[in-house]
Amino acid sequence: MAVTLKINGGDVALDIPNDTPLLWAVRDELDLKGTKFGCGIGMCGACTVHVNGVAQRSCITPVGSVADASITTIEGLSAEGEHPLQQAWIATQTPQCGYCQSGQIMQAASLLATNANPTDADIDSAMGGNLCRCMAYTRIKKAIKMAASRKALANNVGAEVTLG
Ligand code: FES
Ligand code: FES
Repeated sequence: MAVTLKINGGDVALDIPNDTPLLWAVRDELDLKGTKFGCGIGMCGACTVHVNGVAQRSCITPVGSVADASITTIEGLSAEGEHPLQQAWIATQTPQCGYCQSGQIMQAASLLATNANPTDADIDSAMGGNLCRCMAYTRIKKAIKMAASRKALANNVGAEVTLG
């Protein structure tokens, strides 16, 4: 059965059942390995992608339910890794093993898209479902705050600022 998905700005036709989890379409059919498998039941956040700009657990999302949606994986968040969150993640050396981090960044990007200056409580609330076995939570929060402040700076002065 053919399913057409809009992923990272392009349309792809896949010959897979409608109930295939989006996670496996992304990883196994499209070879986009940045999205990770953790629990498979929507409880860890490792598989987080954006569906129409909103963070969603791809492991429990059937492809048939997102056929008309715009899907973004970590590979599509920015062309060259220049998203403020990606830069902040590097600046703060946030990852330890790294396994959870794509999901963390995608969840955080969804937060910042609707809340440009989140409080600690906002971050805790938005990020609470994204688990990190390496306990990098303090650095994750620090990186989100750094990205938020750089984004605000860039918005204030426009294209004259190069984030980095
Ligand atoms: S693998 Fe999807 S939430 Fe854990
Ligand atoms: S950095 Fe290892 S699981 Fe989060």
